[in-house]
Amino acid sequence: MFAGILKTIGNTPLVELKKAMDVRFHLFAKLEGANPSGSAKDRPALEIVREGLLTGKIRKDTVIVETSSGNMGVALAQICSYLNLPFICITDTKATPQHVNLLRIYGAKVEVISKPDSVTGDFLVARINRAREIANSLDNAFWINQYANLLNAGAHYRTMEEILTALNGEVDYFICCASSCGTLRGCAEYVRSLGLSRIKICAVDAPGSVIFGGNRGKRLIPGHGAGIRPELYQDGLVNRVVTVTDMECVIGCRRLLATEALLVGGSSGAAFMGAQHLRDEIPEGANCVMLFPDRGERYLNTIFSDTWVYEQFNRSIDECCQNVEFLPGLPDAVAHNLSA
Ligand SMILES: Cc1ncc(COP(=O)(O)O)c(C=O)c1O
Repeated sequence: MFAGILKTIGNTPLVELKKAMDVRFHLFAKLEGANPSGSAKDRPALEIVREGLLTGKIRKDTVIVETSSGNMGVALAQICSYLNLPFICITDTKATPQHVNLLRIYGAKVEVISKPDSVTGDFLVARINRAREIANSLDNAFWINQYANLLNAGAHYRTMEEILTALNGEVDYFICCASSCGTLRGCAEYVRSLGLSRIKICAVDAPGSVIFGGNRGKRLIPGHGAGIRPELYQDGLVNRVVTVTDMECVIGCRRLLATEALLVGGSSGAAFMGAQHLRDEIPEGANCVMLFPDRGERYLNTIFSDTWVYEQFNRSIDECCQNVEFLPGLPDAVAHNLSA
């Protein structure tokens, strides 16, 4: 049953980046965009559906329901298509057209929420409420509930196992974005379970996200950050939290493209800039692993569009980079002068 394309989930490449940042530690990227639907979300999507099928909670005619701003939905859409399971995905107007098209192409029924929750003002709350409502209204529904489902985290034990195996256990820093906290919690729990306290777990969040505190605010780059603290969040999970702005995400993505020929999504740019923030504290010779959740093709009209950058930040990508004082080690090669 879990054959074919589903067998290609996981075992993603770990690549050393030697050109993007001038540092004396070793910088690695775990390329989760190499998963078949294009993101780290293939792992929890498969884990949750597999457990549902094995325990009988999911049967032949069960309707899978989930809310997603993009990648979890696409991952589930591909898996449900392979397994011939109906899938309803609740998304919102902030999802990229690419994500919505992919959901439909894989056969998902898509509902787009256009108004935030009236009490909290948050889209995620509105989406979760709607997913719960749909799941409750059907007698044959299974709600994935990634923000509270422990298997979302459990699926990432293997992600960290792959990283540790690739580096013979020699990992000093792990840098990871958070939204549902599944990736972060799974990787951190696995490290803890092995007693590897020397590994510093560093979370990357966005300004305007409330996961690690602070006030809810507008966020531009989809993927990381959340307007509510997910149930999967745990105190004491991480050693460090680094906040990376939307503009820094763009600069990080452009830098990775220009120097490493790596086309990755905004949260990967955030993880990279997280490493840039931490570079002075990471010891010489240390192994620093960043988790890159997805690829960049879904963001060609935003992060990789010079027009979009100008519209959002009121300055060109070159000007964005010039004004960033925290980039002493990152000269010139940030922008390729990409056309819109
Ligand atoms: C592109 C991207 N980056 C980061 C994340 C955050 O991962 P998690 O939900 O495991 O915290 C997500 C989650 O959807 C994502 O799609």
